Amino acid sequence: MIRVVEGDAGDIAALMTIMDDAFDPAYGEAWTASQCLSALVLPDCQLLLARTDDDVCGFALSRWVLDHEELLMIGVARRFQRQNIGKLLLSETVVRARCAGRTKIFLEVRDGNNARDFYLKSGFNSIGRRKNYYKNATGLSPDAITMALDLQY
Ligand SMILES: CC(C)(COP(=O)(O)OP(=O)(O)OC[C@H]1O[C@@H](n2cnc3c(N)ncnc32)[C@H](O)[C@@H]1OP(=O)(O)O)[C@@H](O)C(=O)NCCC(=O)NCCS
Repeated sequence: MIRVVEGDAGDIAALMTIMDDAFDPAYGEAWTASQCLSALVLPDCQLLLARTDDDVCGFALSRWVLDHEELLMIGVARRFQRQNIGKLLLSETVVRARCAGRTKIFLEVRDGNNARDFYLKSGFNSIGRRKNYYKNATGLSPDAITMALDLQY
């Protein structure tokens, strides 16, 4: 059975294992351990981990400013993908954000990452585009699509 639990900076090794497995390094989307740790020490940042009895199999990292939450990253280890674990992590993030009184969740996803369909299925809408937001290994700079979910309903 998969459980979603809160994590912290002490879970950095497990978090980076998922990060390195889930994200294709060609696209420059993954964060380094040092970027993750910088976020995790902040009081306005939340790490959720999806766990089996033995393993961490996914994570969602978010932060908030006033009544807006930003989903910074979500990732599920490849062998656990398409088993509703991403959905579980995202819905837990949404429930917690709503309970905390936040009114919107924003995120950025690389143009061309089919995770955009995952977000659309979860109720997010595309609301903007940031030109050349990512820097990838091939020297290309794909755009980011900004997506949002309204929590006021
Ligand atoms: C995006 C990601 C987190 C989804 O996690 P997951 O556990 O595989 O997704 P789920 O099994 O919970 O899928 C939930 C729904 O989204 C859909 N979905 C998931 N991945 C999808 C994809 N790549 N393309 C299209 N639809 C997708 C599923 O079909 C499912 O639809 P349903 O509710 O109609 O059955 C996972 O694919 C991942 O880690 N990707 C690499 C990292 C990444 O790009 N993260 C997003 C940018 S921060």
